[in-house]
Order: sequence, then structure tokens, then C-alpha cells
Amino acid sequence: MTEPSPKVSAETGRDLRLAIGVFDSGVGGLSVLRVLRQHLPHATLLYVADSGHAPYGEKSEAFITGRSLAIADFLLSQGAELLVVACNTATATSVQALRQRHPHLPIVGIEPGVKPAVAASVARKVGVLATPGTLGSERFAQLIEQHAGDAQILPQPCPGLAKAIETGRLDTPALRELIAGFCQPLKQAGVDTVVLGCTHYPFVAPLIAEAMGPGVQLIDTSDAVARQTVRLARRALSSAERLEGEPSTGRTRLWTSGDVAALRHFCTPWMADAATVEPLPPGQTVN
Ligand code: DGL
Repeated sequence: MTEPSPKVSAETGRDLRLAIGVFDSGVGGLSVLRVLRQHLPHATLLYVADSGHAPYGEKSEAFITGRSLAIADFLLSQGAELLVVACNTATATSVQALRQRHPHLPIVGIEPGVKPAVAASVARKVGVLATPGTLGSERFAQLIEQHAGDAQILPQPCPGLAKAIETGRLDTPALRELIAGFCQPLKQAGVDTVVLGCTHYPFVAPLIAEAMGPGVQLIDTSDAVARQTVRLARRALSSAERLEGEPSTGRTRLWTSGDVAALRHFCTPWMADAATVEPLPPGQTVN
């Protein structure tokens, strides 16, 4: 006998029980993972932090695609039924290759929130903080072409910022100085809306807000990614006719190619003891 599934509104994924693979170059995707957990309390979440190879934003496309394909293979071997690329840089460079390799796998990518930022900007000036890889990509050029409209978009590459966040020291004088340097040109240009175009940056949102000054809105797309994940999960499960009756695990498993203790420390404040953290098995190469 199966338990009755809980009553849920159409926007939430409370009733969805499936395994979702999530990855990022490092800890940044945890900003997406925590929102996914809020939307999908009964899903099994499988997360790979590729911290041993971070940052991606300053690496070649071939390298990032190789890592993305290898990590996706690993997550599938662990039972993932849906993949979330919780990295703007990996989405920009590799989502197409992932879709080609896994044509039947539902895949959700993340892109800088240019569209919501343009809608929100009164000054019609939008800053985009992201990695050099994301801002130099063809996908980003397309995003601007599609959504900038009459707004001026100011892309601001932030080399070194994801790497600094990887250390877990999220409020140091050096970090403040780095952020202030990236925000200065945007401030001077009079932007009133700033896109957090890298999943690492929500962890330093308070410092970015402070550097930009009052009246500037920050745009983070984690919630939109979680909502899209719920939609694709619901579609995948209903075509497999198994929304209900699966064991409700709500489990979170994490792996890292970097330091296990550092990843555990990073997620402890909000993930408590419901998660396991293990080293990513070596030799994740693409066949
Ligand atoms: N967190 C990633 C992103 O969203 C990448 C940061 C990096 O590794 O450079 O772009």
C-alpha cells in the first residue's frame, strides 16, 4: 500500500520523488542546491563540486566540456534521472554537448538573468557580474541580443572572484577590495540592477550590495532554475507514471574533487546533518 501523496500547489515539487544530479565547478552550485531542496523536499539530490578543477571561468572550453561530460556520467552512474548544470560557465560552454550525449535526459542549465534584470531596471542600465568564460561565450552574446531591448548591458568579468569564494572566507578585507574593484565601473555608469551571473556570487551578495550602494537590485536566477527543474521532473515522472509510491528519501549526497572537509564546512550551516560528503572517485574521464 502506498501513502497518499501530500496536497501541493502546482508550483511546488513536494510530491516529486526522484534523483536529481547537480554540478558546478565548486561550491557555487550549492546556492542552487539549497533552493532546489526547498522546492523538492522529497527528491534525492546528488551534487558534485569540481573544486579540484575550479575555477572553470578562466579555463578552455574543451577542458570545461570534458569535465562536464565526465561529471554527468558519474551522476548518472549514481542514479540521477535529471541533470541540473548549476554553473553559468559550464552551461554556456557545455550544455549543448551534454544534450547531444544524453538526448533523453532532462537537463536544466543556468544563465545570467539578463531578461528579469532588463524588466526590473528603471535606469535602463544593467550590470552583469560573471566569469570571463561566461561573458565571452556565444550564448551570452545571444542572451544580450534577445533580451537587452532598449537597456544598456554592462558585462563585468570577475576573474579571481569564484576562486576567492572557494576558500570559504566570505568576508575578508581582500575580498571586499576585489568586489569593490569589479563594482566600481558599474556604479560609475549608474546601473540600478546587477545580475549575479555566476552561482558562486550569491554567497557574497551582501558584499556586492554594499559595494554597489543603496537602491541597486541584485538578480539571482536560482529560483527560476528550481522552478524549471520542478516542471521537467514532473513531466519526466508523469511520462514514467510514477509520481507516487517511490520511497521518500529527501537525501543529499555530495562529492568533491577538492577538499572534503572544506565542502562539508561550506554546507554545514544550512544543510545540517542530512547530507553525506565524499571524495569524487578519481579517474572521471570521458569515454
Ligand atoms: N559557479 C560557476 C558559474 O556559475 C563558475 C565559477 C568558476 O569556476 O569560474 O559560472
